[in-house]
Amino acid sequence: MRKILIIGNWKMHLNASQASLLVHRLHERIRIYRDIEVVLAPPMLTLQPLSVQLDRRKFRLAAQNAYQKDEGAFTGEVSFTMLRDLVHYVIIGHSERRRLFHEDLDTVRDKVAAAVRNNITPILCVGETKHERDEGEAKQVLHDQLMTALSNLTAAEVKDAAIAYEPAWAISNGSDYIGHEIAKPDDVESAVTYIRAYITDVFGNTAGKQVRVLYGGSVVPDVVGGFLDIPGVDGFLVGGASLNYHTFSDIIGASQRWQRDKGEV
Ligand code: PGA
Repeated sequence: MRKILIIGNWKMHLNASQASLLVHRLHERIRIYRDIEVVLAPPMLTLQPLSVQLDRRKFRLAAQNAYQKDEGAFTGEVSFTMLRDLVHYVIIGHSERRRLFHEDLDTVRDKVAAAVRNNITPILCVGETKHERDEGEAKQVLHDQLMTALSNLTAAEVKDAAIAYEPAWAISNGSDYIGHEIAKPDDVESAVTYIRAYITDVFGNTAGKQVRVLYGGSVVPDVVGGFLDIPGVDGFLVGGASLNYHTFSDIIGASQRWQRDKGEV
């Protein structure tokens, strides 16, 4: 059985003391789970102090981004090499980075390769925009994103990775859930099935079975069960709701209840 994986992507929110307070509050509310892995992705600046503070039995750390070269004259960048002893995971290919920072398919591929080279597990984000969905191009977009991003990886490396299906049209604008569309489980099922089938076709059965596929886009506690019911969904990449210790711990609690009700633990 694959563990449920829940990642809180704090994006560009919280300074060092605010981040420390949020970890403290989460620590009070979140138990040690054997079958749920909770990962926090705070801003780069706070990774180091949080790595000292947090209880490693409860939380792991992810970076939200890094630069694909290991070192050199790249003003303002932080490499995967610098992060390798600090984080377990790194988020790569988030739609905000693709859209706002012009990360193209090749950049995402180089970042995935750099993460793996530095022993950091990539959380690869894929997903179509509203326009691409309306034009009927969603599957093609997923295909192109997966094909390029994973092209330098072996089957064993893909097996250990996580892939987050995040339709860009369903991602909230901060903690504001108004003004964008909400994806329903029906919208997500075919994309998740497609992602796993692609991995199985290209990298074989073991990778297809073991790669973790997450859903992301306006996840709140109420929708957790509906998405986990989709065959092949292993957890969530949570943005806005991860900044609030009540909602984030409720998402974890709802996932745990879902597991228990399904008799999965
Ligand atoms: P959201 O963000 O949960 O605020 O929609 C998800 C994401 O961007 O990963």
